[in-house]
Amino acid sequence: MTYQTLLFDVRDGLAFITVNRPDKLNALNDQVMAELTQAAERLATEPEIRGAIVTGAGPKAFIAGADIGDLSRQGPFDGKARAMRGQAVLRRLETCGKPVLAAVNGFALGGGCELAMACHLRIASENAKFGQPEVKLGIAPGYGGTQRLPRLVGKGIALQLILSGEMIDAQEAYRIGLVNKVVPAADLMVESEKVMRGILAMAPLAVRLCLEAVDQGFEMTLDEGLLLEANHFGLLAATHDMKEGTTAFLEKRPPRFEGR
Ligand code: COA
Repeated sequence: MTYQTLLFDVRDGLAFITVNRPDKLNALNDQVMAELTQAAERLATEPEIRGAIVTGAGPKAFIAGADIGDLSRQGPFDGKARAMRGQAVLRRLETCGKPVLAAVNGFALGGGCELAMACHLRIASENAKFGQPEVKLGIAPGYGGTQRLPRLVGKGIALQLILSGEMIDAQEAYRIGLVNKVVPAADLMVESEKVMRGILAMAPLAVRLCLEAVDQGFEMTLDEGLLLEANHFGLLAATHDMKEGTTAFLEKRPPRFEGR
């Protein structure tokens, strides 16, 4: 598989997906979105890929949003279709069954912030900036920003960011819970890989079902969510991984998980 606007490397089970249009601050044009669709599909379906880190090329931007040139030409029907395509790609990433981390190395604006929010974890470099500036362009967030931002930071702060279009820095993003961690720019990829390697060392089926329980449970009543959790708990008891994890603990040795 070759890409024009993405770099896609797999090292030791971890995919590194880099949006690669640094001269346009990695803005998401239609080609990037089409290639991201294929990348998300690979994540979901290739067993040798066990997780992913998404980042942007160059020192300045993670992703500075949807490509404003593309947006400027859209009418109401292709605008809606573009939003639905974008939402579907991000949702595919979010529900690919494997952990995905956004390594935010600069501007994460509009669609860039939305892509980061669709990832399960976000680590930001100290120079990262976040925002949903769509209202400045006469549009509203279209790739899930109005839905995921309030779920992550609460309705009040989400509306403040969405209605003002203001940019916040990495420390503020950390303070409001939009990112998990802030690190010096030079350490971003090393730290991100360290976090992901830690997760990949855990039992893969347990990780998959944790992702699913949190994602699905968020939209359920407490009782429905608790039932889902109990079902997962029971299901995992049938796996080799649970037998291995508990036995390894009792035998005082590290576990060897195989994801079955
Ligand atoms: N879509 C298309 N092109 C974009 C872009 C976007 N979202 N964001 C940046 N670019 C392009 C610029 O047009 C410029 O291209 P050029 O060199 O051919 O003129 C290049 O990337 C560099 O951007 P520039 O604006 O010169 O950098 P800057 O450091 O002065 O400003 C930003 C950086 C992020 C503040 C500014 O680029 C910006 O506001 N971008 C748009 C952010 C946005 O509104 N995103 C939401 C879209 S829905």
